[in-house]
Amino acid sequence: MSSVTLVRSAQRSARVQSKRTYHDLAVTPSRKPIVSYGPPGYSAVTGHCVTVFGCTGFLGRYLVSKLGKMGTQVVIPYRDEDEKRLLRPMGDLGKIVPMEWDIRNEQQIEECVRHSDVVYNLTGRQYETKNFTYDAVHTAGAERIAKIAAANGVEKFVHVSHLNAAVDSPSEFYASKARGEELVKEAFPTASIVRPGALYGYEDKLLNNMASWPIWWKLNWGETKIRPAHVMDVAQALANLTHMPAVPRTINLPGPSTFTHEYMLQLVESVTLRPPSKAPVVPKKIAMALADIATKSVWWPTLCPDEVVRRYLDDVDVTGDWDLTGVTPTEIEQHAIKYLRRYRSYDNVVRPVVFPPRPEPESITA
Ligand SMILES: NC(=O)c1ccc[n+]([C@@H]2O[C@H](COP(=O)([O-])OP(=O)(O)OC[C@H]3O[C@@H](n4cnc5c(N)ncnc54)[C@H](OP(=O)(O)O)[C@@H]3O)[C@@H](O)[C@H]2O)c1
Repeated sequence: MSSVTLVRSAQRSARVQSKRTYHDLAVTPSRKPIVSYGPPGYSAVTGHCVTVFGCTGFLGRYLVSKLGKMGTQVVIPYRDEDEKRLLRPMGDLGKIVPMEWDIRNEQQIEECVRHSDVVYNLTGRQYETKNFTYDAVHTAGAERIAKIAAANGVEKFVHVSHLNAAVDSPSEFYASKARGEELVKEAFPTASIVRPGALYGYEDKLLNNMASWPIWWKLNWGETKIRPAHVMDVAQALANLTHMPAVPRTINLPGPSTFTHEYMLQLVESVTLRPPSKAPVVPKKIAMALADIATKSVWWPTLCPDEVVRRYLDDVDVTGDWDLTGVTPTEIEQHAIKYLRRYRSYDNVVRPVVFPPRPEPESITA
């Protein structure tokens, strides 16, 4: 084929790809047109501008990656220069827009949301710090972001809470999440409240922590029930909400199966091919005291007393709303080896995976 023919055929295919149709135009309730164009993928333009508060966290980075890959412009509010670096290449040139913010600074929040039609709030912390209590982040912070988003004409607000959020929960973390949900609904009545179960993935605090610190998962004799969800599934569900009409309700996203901590430890041990942990079952009072001392004595995050309380609370038995998001949740057996292989010894790295038999469903749900 001559070079002229090649150039002509490239021009023809570019014309075909850039042809727009009716579904490339969407008009939001405030009459703002959203026009998508370009080839599918990294270099596409979905026309949406989205702000992801909490983008530097475990779930946030996967959400930004999924949005960037679709060609959505993403504003990424950050606190630490280094934390946002890995997010920059997740979108085409100019698509990922870092902006420094402080959750207490209304002007900065406003600057982060004023060009966006969708805002996600993923900010959260497992433990309190000297500057931020649970309420400062999950309640006052969430309300502030929702109010400013509403005042700036944001079309859609997605607030990430927790599956176990409940105002009367003995865990202050879960209670503050529930109080935050109420305030977000008041400030932004059409907000979607997303409640994922415990998340697992490469940088999780579930499988990694079970492999490193099995003793703290033996609390309550390992009988606490958990419904782990894959972080990629939850990130995809969140990303899909950008393109759907607003879902003004609570969306529960528990994992597809319920396991006891004891079974999860067995699963981790069989995947990592390590002998069962001989650590004793620590009584709750001692665990609380140790967690309290550790939290007060070192500056890095350790198991905090509220986490000890949470280790005794079963995940709530509600039906998942995955259908609403167009995602089918995957089972933990499909992914466990990816995240746990690094805990295998050199000799065992490539050995096949054998999972422990799943417990009978009635022994879990009883
Ligand atoms: N991981 C789970 O198993 C799980 C399960 C259910 C629900 N959730 C919820 O899902 C959301 C995301 O979870 P994750 O695992 O991604 O959490 P994560 O890794 O701890 O990340 C939390 C994010 O919130 C930001 N943040 C925390 N405190 C802040 C503050 N005072 N000011 C400003 N930003 C603050 C962090 O920013 P910096 O990087 O600047 O610290 C980070 O971007 C959270 O709301 C969490 O409660 C998580």
